[in-house]
Amino acid sequence: MIKYITVTLTMFFILVGTVEASQKCDSCHGKNGNSTEPEVPTIAGLSSTYFKDAMKNFKRGKRQSEKFSLNGRVTDMNAIARNLNRKEITRLSRYYASQTFVARKQNINYSLIAKGKKIYRRNCMRCHSKNGTNPDDDAGILGGQSKTYLISQINQFKNRKRKGPRKMIRKLKKLKAGDITAVINFFASQQR
Ligand code: HEC
Ligand code: HEC
Repeated sequence: MIKYITVTLTMFFILVGTVEASQKCDSCHGKNGNSTEPEVPTIAGLSSTYFKDAMKNFKRGKRQSEKFSLNGRVTDMNAIARNLNRKEITRLSRYYASQTFVARKQNINYSLIAKGKKIYRRNCMRCHSKNGTNPDDDAGILGGQSKTYLISQINQFKNRKRKGPRKMIRKLKKLKAGDITAVINFFASQQR
């Protein structure tokens, strides 16, 4: 009986979340959170822990989002998150965690992938497992994510506009521009 109620409740949350999401988020993040805009990350399949943390950080201004234009109106994730309460964020986190991440169709420089893989194994694998595709790391999804978005976030970490683990930032700062390009192409090449 308890199990039955849990399942029904989860389905209810997902349903309510779907309506909210399609109204407020999918205009930028794409159908079910699978974005086609280079600047906008795919959020389908993110763990609900990572999702809630990201929204909290946007809300409190701990993470500064880039500005983004939608139908001629300029907005950003800080303003969007401030308009959501805790319950709405929780529901949205469950909804997006239940959606399937689809690897992005984008230009990939295949000649850089072997180099990128080496850099990944040495510097990133410990925290971004399964070639960056494992949501359970609670560190985003890098495998199959937009290259433009990945570069913008790496620059934000390096410029201290976004907080991240000190170990990661030290590694990102040590890598040469060419190493970063290679590792990003490696992540982009991940299909699953
Ligand atoms: C106007 C376009 C737009 C709308 C509408 C929008 N987003 Fe975003 N979202 C973005 C952009 C652009 C980013 C990347 C921000 C940055 O520069 O860090 C982003 C980032 C995010 C991230 C961080 C993803 C990651 O991997 O760290 C989450 C989570 C997110 N959005 C959730 C939402 C939710 C939930 C909604 C609806 C309530 C929403 N967004 C509506 C444009 C939008
Ligand atoms: C010590 C663990 C650790 C290491 C090593 C690490 N990362 Fe991270 N990474 C994280 C965590 C944790 C986050 C989530 C930060 C947050 O809370 O916003 C993250 C987030 C990211 C993001 C943003 C994801 C998103 O969806 O917005 C990118 C891009 C990234 N890491 C790239 C890398 C790359 C490239 C390497 C290797 C050169 C690397 N990381 C090494 C722990 C690590």
